[in-house]
Amino acid sequence: MSALLEVESLRVTYGGVVAVRDVSLSVSPGEVVAVLGANGAGKTTTLLAVSGLVKVRGGDVRLDGESIVGSAPEAIARRGVAHVPAGRGIFGGLTVADNLRMGLYGSGRIKADDAEESVEQVLEAFPILRERRDQPAGTMSGGQQQQLAIGRALVQKPRLLLLDEMSMGLAPAIVADLFALVGRLRESGIGVVMVEQFVGQALKVADRAVVLEQGTVVADGAPDELSSDDIAAAYLGGGEEPDVTVRPAPDSAREVLQVPLAGAAVRRLERLAAEQGRPVQELLAETLTGALAGAGTSDGEERSS
Ligand SMILES: Nc1ncnc2c1ncn2[C@@H]1O[C@H](COP(=O)(O)OP(=O)(O)OP(=O)(O)O)[C@@H](O)[C@H]1O
Ligand SMILES: [Mg+2]
Repeated sequence: MSALLEVESLRVTYGGVVAVRDVSLSVSPGEVVAVLGANGAGKTTTLLAVSGLVKVRGGDVRLDGESIVGSAPEAIARRGVAHVPAGRGIFGGLTVADNLRMGLYGSGRIKADDAEESVEQVLEAFPILRERRDQPAGTMSGGQQQQLAIGRALVQKPRLLLLDEMSMGLAPAIVADLFALVGRLRESGIGVVMVEQFVGQALKVADRAVVLEQGTVVADGAPDELSSDDIAAAYLGGGEEPDVTVRPAPDSAREVLQVPLAGAAVRRLERLAAEQGRPVQELLAETLTGALAGAGTSDGEERSS
């Protein structure tokens, strides 16, 4: 059976800049997947690609097993994908109720006759929105506006909800409420992809997490399967391009290899080296030598040349 959403080896570029190099993830109905990673890791871009808002340069994005690469954002929305962008994007001058009605446009998932009922259902689920239904949205608190942004996505009765940094700028108690809301959405069978900077809280609610670093997945698994290094990567990312130089021993010296490693791997290496009280270079050389021996390579060719 196909997952609701499958992203496979996704690649997205902006001009010449590679924003997403190789990202794969999948979401089933009723599953919450957290996408974690430092600033610039490619989290937002991944969500934009799923929604059809940026061009997919490589790999595939499938809904129910069917590729949606190249589909218009409206067509993707109609198939049940709702996107709550970072920064919420609500209309401050419109009332709460009118903002919710705006959520009905574009996707065409809800028939005109059912529109008001769908809005009422969301107002039912969010008491604060019902209380403020005729108030201009811009006069509500940040947490209330975030509930409105999520509510506006829910009026379309989505099957897949993409949440980009819903907790940004909000007080911890409000963030906890929003995570509880995500938990309830899962129970209703919606699949959720949640980009988050509140890593600890996201891991409490998520079924699985994907950690991105420089556009690549560096860790993927259930929260209790992620190591502390994986989680560190979610906060720290790679920063500047991590780079370890391998210098061959002098008697066989030929060239110096530059080996780019993901930040998580570099940190793991540094931790191991510290534990063993040895230089990082030495440990890396030993690890590589061991891996090459394990891969069954032979140095015969080199000797004969
Ligand atoms: N419109 C754009 N034009 C050019 N480069 C972009 C554009 N949007 C994003 N990028 C670059 O793509 C990379 C990934 O950006 P993205 O916004 O996906 O990261 P992110 O993980 O969401 O980061 P943050 O945590 O800061 O929101 C970054 O290097 C960013 O500078
Ligand atoms: Mg982002």
